[in-house]
Amino acid sequence: MTKFVCLASGKGGTGKTTTTLNLGLALSEYRDVTVIDGNLSTPNIALHLGIQNLPSYLNHVLQGKKKIVQSIYTHKKLKVIPSSIFIKDIRKTPYKKLKTEIRKLKDLTDIVLIDSSAGLSDEVVACMKASDELLIVTNPDLPSVTDSLKSVKLAEELKLPITGVIVNKTANKHDLSKNDIEKILENKIIGEIPEDSNVPSSIKLANPVIHSFPYSESAKAYKRLAAELTGTEYEEESIVTKILNFFGL
Ligand SMILES: Nc1ncnc2c1ncn2[C@@H]1O[C@H](COP(=O)(O)OP(=O)(O)OP(=O)(O)O)[C@@H](O)[C@H]1O
Ligand SMILES: [Mg+2]
Repeated sequence: MTKFVCLASGKGGTGKTTTTLNLGLALSEYRDVTVIDGNLSTPNIALHLGIQNLPSYLNHVLQGKKKIVQSIYTHKKLKVIPSSIFIKDIRKTPYKKLKTEIRKLKDLTDIVLIDSSAGLSDEVVACMKASDELLIVTNPDLPSVTDSLKSVKLAEELKLPITGVIVNKTANKHDLSKNDIEKILENKIIGEIPEDSNVPSSIKLANPVIHSFPYSESAKAYKRLAAELTGTEYEEESIVTKILNFFGL
């Protein structure tokens, strides 16, 4: 059975796209995972992966010009459905067909992660309506958490269950406590990803951090979260394995 999961935050820049891709890649070690760029107005998935000039994007599917299965690309073990960064495609995209099109992936993959845009627009509502559950991606500061609370309330209105909260960019001395974040958002924190300069570096390299810097703290946190979500025991690689991997042995 396919599980459709939307990632939302309310506030922009909390790390939804970074989390969708890195968690998706980490999960793809255990399950068949498809990532969808549901951020139709300001899409970033293709940029994060360094892919361009594709023959078909999600936009073309929603415009009725292509079938969704014609718009699935692979990045390592992950399936990816990117949205177009071209303004001519963005302006003509009817997001209301999102659920109907995305649901055509039912039984073709195990998990669908939908990266949504910031805010509470109709576009975000369409992503939530296409999903079975919601993951909140927030940062440990008051503006982010306050904006995430709006996403929580929107999900409640739509009767969309919330799986939990991922707190991204942690480990600053001014962070809100875990307890405070959980109290404000009325939901459990299921993952914490530290602030890590390897993340912006990985975006510059167009290669998600779990592959470009696999032993970084953020990469390990994404792998740990994926293991927990799939009920697998997470074992950090030993230094011996790291060295053998380094030499490709
Ligand atoms: N754990 C992290 N440590 C350091 N920087 C991070 C981390 N996660 C994300 N970033 C940085 O934060 C910025 C925003 O990340 P990202 O694009 O994933 O956010 P977003 O929520 O998808 O943004 P938008 O709302 O615009 O779609 C990027 O510059 C990224 O490099
Ligand atoms: Mg984004």
